[in-house]
Amino acid sequence: MDNRPIGVFDSGLGGLTAVRELMDLLPNESIVYLGDTGRVPYGTRSKETILKYARQDINFLNTFDLKAILIACGTITTNGLDMIQKEYPLPILGVAEPAARAAAAATRNGRIGLIATQASIRSGLYERIIRAESPQTEIFSVPCPLFVSLVEAGHYAKGDPMVKLAAEEYLTSLQEQKIDTLILGCTHYPLLSDAIEDFFGPAVTLINSGAQGALTFREMLAQKDLLADPQQVSATYQYYVTDRTEQFSRLAAVFLGRPVSGLVEQVVIDQ
Ligand code: DGL
Repeated sequence: MDNRPIGVFDSGLGGLTAVRELMDLLPNESIVYLGDTGRVPYGTRSKETILKYARQDINFLNTFDLKAILIACGTITTNGLDMIQKEYPLPILGVAEPAARAAAAATRNGRIGLIATQASIRSGLYERIIRAESPQTEIFSVPCPLFVSLVEAGHYAKGDPMVKLAAEEYLTSLQEQKIDTLILGCTHYPLLSDAIEDFFGPAVTLINSGAQGALTFREMLAQKDLLADPQQVSATYQYYVTDRTEQFSRLAAVFLGRPVSGLVEQVVIDQ
């Protein structure tokens, strides 16, 4: 048993889709969340910049006495999880491998779509993991850079004209490829699930990378005997952002699917 909090971070609000899942799966775990809202998006940047930002994120989280960290960001996971795991002593997991494995298990026709940020698609990591699992599977990848900005700006409803337009632009080629499974490889994208489901209809299974990451994170905590003792602790939540807290507080409740309880504070992490 370990009653210390877990750390979760993302370039912005997207990682809250993983936090939502963690809150359901592990109601006794305390969480320290960092959203680097001052520098979102990461997905349009170089690997070097993504890694620099990720290290600053982790160095901030490490000012708390954490037992483990979930990188609730497809972009950081695909561009640096292996390196980051070697640099820090505590257990650190990402979202790409759990989502890729879930997709490989879910597909029936062997045709998987992947939507993610440009940096994630460029890394090729999701594809490599799926091919290692099932070499015959065909994977069709499309970067969807505008999805992150739309979500961060509060445009996620399926009837929203801007969301509809972006969905048509990004998803039409995947529909033509007759995929039956779609990886939402960026943790912001599950907020667009209604719009994406509306576009594809029920024949395409959506794989939520944040939720899959949270499931694997729970398994890891259990295996390492790091789960909190439910008799001793009740969960507390702290949220840190690198830009104004107002926008975060407004949208966080939507991402979390519940009111935001706990501290929300703006911090400086790049010094
Ligand atoms: N939520 C992120 C991801 O999972 C990052 C989006 C971005 O910053 O571009 O990729």
